[in-house]
Amino acid sequence: MKAIDDFLAQAEREHNSGDLPLVTLAYAQSLDGSLALRRGEPINLSSESAYALTHHLRAWHDALLVGIGTVLSDDPQLTVRFVDGEDPQPVILDTHLRLPAKTRLHAHPIPAWVFCAPNAPTSSSGANYRTFPTPFDKNNRLDLRHILGTLHANGIRRLMVEGGAGIIESFLRAGLVNTAILTIAPAWVGGLKSAATPLGNGKCVQDYPHLQSVHSAQLEENIIVWGYLKN
Ligand SMILES: NC(=O)c1ccc[n+]([C@@H]2O[C@H](COP(=O)([O-])OP(=O)(O)OC[C@H]3O[C@@H](n4cnc5c(N)ncnc54)[C@H](OP(=O)(O)O)[C@@H]3O)[C@@H](O)[C@H]2O)c1
Repeated sequence: MKAIDDFLAQAEREHNSGDLPLVTLAYAQSLDGSLALRRGEPINLSSESAYALTHHLRAWHDALLVGIGTVLSDDPQLTVRFVDGEDPQPVILDTHLRLPAKTRLHAHPIPAWVFCAPNAPTSSSGANYRTFPTPFDKNNRLDLRHILGTLHANGIRRLMVEGGAGIIESFLRAGLVNTAILTIAPAWVGGLKSAATPLGNGKCVQDYPHLQSVHSAQLEENIIVWGYLKN
């Protein structure tokens, strides 16, 4: 979609966090903000065109990040399949290296980069991924800013964060998202939300992470909403 391509190109030109990649949050949700029915019970929120857009976005980015929760519940391939384009570097946040020995990710042409705790057991020889021991932040989670710095140092300039719920919440709380591109499905689900507790404090939209310069377009039954993220 040309309008989104132009938006991302401009966001990249204006991006001035010298040692961090441009971070795009991109996921699908229902009208009530549900990402899935429950953990491990995905629902199909995207039309064919919206899936194609997601894969187009994957191809534009250098790396694609998801949490271990998404790997365990959905076993995603994290490849570009519905459009022409390069696969981005798969990146997994997995504190305790719970990544199973056999997932569809192991068939990915690019070995995943797995960010884990400094003391996590090291990967077994021959494992199809590379580990990055990472310090904790003040909340005892893998330090996202440190992860972004490491990704940048390893050549990643455009990072797409696709989910799931815990990862989206952490990135929003940390104020580390530059742009967001959301696929909205026209249904109320009452399922797993992207944030379990309030992300701000106040009575105005501006008191919460919000979009600025909001744009939207319709793709089949989905509404695509995008803009710059402000905390
Ligand atoms: N609708 C969509 O577009 C979409 C996209 C993706 C996923 N999903 C859905 O999201 C659900 C999975 O969400 P989830 O919350 O269970 O899993 P998740 O967000 O994929 O992963 C969360 C896990 O990542 C690890 N982690 C490591 N560092 C972290 C940090 N700094 N902040 C947060 N988490 C960190 C934690 O596990 P450890 O402590 O073990 O490391 C945490 O439990 C699935 O049902 C999936 O279908 C939907």
